[in-house]
Amino acid sequence: MREELQAVVEELKAMRDAGVSHVYLADGTLGDLRAAVSAAGAAADPESASAAAPPTPPRREPTPPSDGAREMVLPMGEGRAREPRKAAPKPARHGPSEPVPPPPAVDLPAGEAAERMAWLRKRVLECPVCNARVKPGKKVVFGVGPVEAEIFFCGEAPGAEEEVQGEPFVGPAGQLLTKIIGGMGLSRGEVYIGNIMNWRPEMPTSVGNRPPTAEEMAFCLPYLRAQVEVVAPKVIVALGKTAVDGLLGPDPKRKMGQVRGKWHEFAGIPLLPTFHPSYLLRNDTLRTKRMVWEDMMQVMERVGMPVSERQRSYFLTR
Ligand code: URA
Repeated sequence: MREELQAVVEELKAMRDAGVSHVYLADGTLGDLRAAVSAAGAAADPESASAAAPPTPPRREPTPPSDGAREMVLPMGEGRAREPRKAAPKPARHGPSEPVPPPPAVDLPAGEAAERMAWLRKRVLECPVCNARVKPGKKVVFGVGPVEAEIFFCGEAPGAEEEVQGEPFVGPAGQLLTKIIGGMGLSRGEVYIGNIMNWRPEMPTSVGNRPPTAEEMAFCLPYLRAQVEVVAPKVIVALGKTAVDGLLGPDPKRKMGQVRGKWHEFAGIPLLPTFHPSYLLRNDTLRTKRMVWEDMMQVMERVGMPVSERQRSYFLTR
């Protein structure tokens, strides 16, 4: 019985440390707890009681909640069980309704690229701010691909499929991206694929996506920058306006039609903006496909890949 009570005490302490100041108990539970405490107290060695005993049964608040449960004030700790609580410890958790905090400092450890990436992946998957913003049962999404990849594709944010699978670009846009990569003579596993955002910007429904806010993008940018640092690709391909804005900084005057296909730079690495595969899905014309394809040929040439005559003729009108 003492062990079970100790477990209850530990649980209450953990809740208190997380900032919980009150718990609700049914009358029956409160009675059982009292009986258990008296029984354990009677059996205990009086010398060790103060160190191991569970807290004194909690004080009840005068007005119980309407659902019949009772409010119990948690003790402040052993030996201070009856003192009123002075200040709640700061909660360690980050709530979804809190404003997005300033960007985190990401200090990559020294070591092999694979180890550094594993460290970074763990850091992002455990990021409390990211986790507070994914819906229950959904996942924070980190980049995928070899750390030796020469080409780094960067998209916007996970969508519905991605937050379920925890992998970027696995939905319809991802399938198209995989085809584009295939057209370049590469497999998906030979390139790195990441996103500006590590979580799906919150939507009231499971369908549709919204662009991330400037604060959301700024928060995730150090994680993306660190992925770029580890991979050190020869080229970054920014897929769509959000990726361009995230990587190059927002510019309200920027138009994708003007910046796509022209070289820029991020962290000293050549960056080529092109249309997002979702845009291609919505604008399924030979002309748009050819524009993206010309961008991909530029990428191939930049990393030193040969471009065949057949590849040169893709999406050309006859
Ligand atoms: N669109 C993106 O920008 N990223 C994904 O991971 C999926 C769809």
